[in-house]
Amino acid sequence: MRLLVTGGAGFIGSHFVKRMLAASDDVVILDKFTYAGNPANLPAESECYRGDIAVQEDVEQIGAVDAIVNFAAETHVDRSIHGPEDFVRTDVLGTLVLLQLARELSARFVQVSTDEVYGDIEPGWSSREDDRLRPSSPYSASKAGGDLQVLAAVRTFGVNASVTRGSNTYGPNQYPEKVLPLFTTNALDGEPLPLYGDGRQVRDWLHVEDHCAGIELVLREGQPGDVYNVAANEEHENVELTNLVIDHLGVDRSLIRNVDDRPGHDRRYSLDTTKLRALGWTPRREWEDGVRATIDWYRDNRDWWEPIKRSDGFREFYERQYAARLAT
Ligand code: NAD
Ligand code: DAU
Repeated sequence: MRLLVTGGAGFIGSHFVKRMLAASDDVVILDKFTYAGNPANLPAESECYRGDIAVQEDVEQIGAVDAIVNFAAETHVDRSIHGPEDFVRTDVLGTLVLLQLARELSARFVQVSTDEVYGDIEPGWSSREDDRLRPSSPYSASKAGGDLQVLAAVRTFGVNASVTRGSNTYGPNQYPEKVLPLFTTNALDGEPLPLYGDGRQVRDWLHVEDHCAGIELVLREGQPGDVYNVAANEEHENVELTNLVIDHLGVDRSLIRNVDDRPGHDRRYSLDTTKLRALGWTPRREWEDGVRATIDWYRDNRDWWEPIKRSDGFREFYERQYAARLAT
């Protein structure tokens, strides 16, 4: 199978590329190399094109493929609050352009989406694939728009496409704007850990290798027009994750700073994963063990994250997002 992986230089996409190369698939990557795309994430032998999924000529430079897995997206909720335009362009329009390619090539298509499209959910409930979409942020609204384009392309044009909706993913190579790598690298640098609001928000944590295994299964065995939730059902409050970082690194708890909340902050995510488990998927990594191993990876790979955190782009983002919050 010749497989196109878009966003393959990002966090989850790069793990998926390595997984598929190990399975001896013929993999080609298309990535715009935004701030989140990192050549250091890619294996040396990768066939990689620079390009924008929202630009038809960029997408057509790849030539024929049998399947497309779309990881390319603007992904950070806080950035979407500051500027949603790029999110709509990549996550909605980009998905549409890729669907047109899949239609022309009769290629299999998997859209990598998120539990955030369901919005937050009351204690005791878990979101199912046919639940109503209630996105809260410009990011999740854009991802929901992408999902709906995929489902419309199946119905109207017969595109052979499925959607995965994964939960909060952790592991090596995640850009240090997201909570676990941000808090870990800040703790390693003796910097404060800015915990939003009361820190009691719940996320359903999933190791990146388990997420990629779920996406591969849907690529190979998912049904056209079907949506599959992917989660390990490891629900933990942010404060619990923060304490684990502090305890594992043996740094002082006074580094934790409760700061102003994220506007529109979703309180709890939880996914019902019965459908994917019925296909034979089961998560392998236990949460605490996986988080500790991830913290160790950041401790041992300063050469990966230090250039990012010292870059002008990251400093500007950090200043805009945290300076006022940390000053009060
Ligand atoms: P990431 O931000 O680490 O990487 C995104 C990649 O997409 C980068 O390599 C970037 O350069 C590329 N990209 C951005 N805009 C592009 C464009 N217009 N054209 C081509 N490439 C472009 O993201 P991630 O965390 O690895 O997430 C990957 C996918 O998984 C996203 O679709 C995201 O919505 C979804 N997802 C992420 C999580 C999570 O917790 N990280 C959970 C569920 C779903
Ligand atoms: O649920 C899946 C989603 O998980 C993906 O679709 C997104 O692409 C991915 O970014 C992630 O979204 P979150 O907003 O949940 O991830 P983030 O790491 O930004 O935040 C996780 C939790 O930690 C959230 O409740 C907000 C909180 N947080 C985050 C940051 C960055 C803080 O308390 N302080 C922070 O500085």
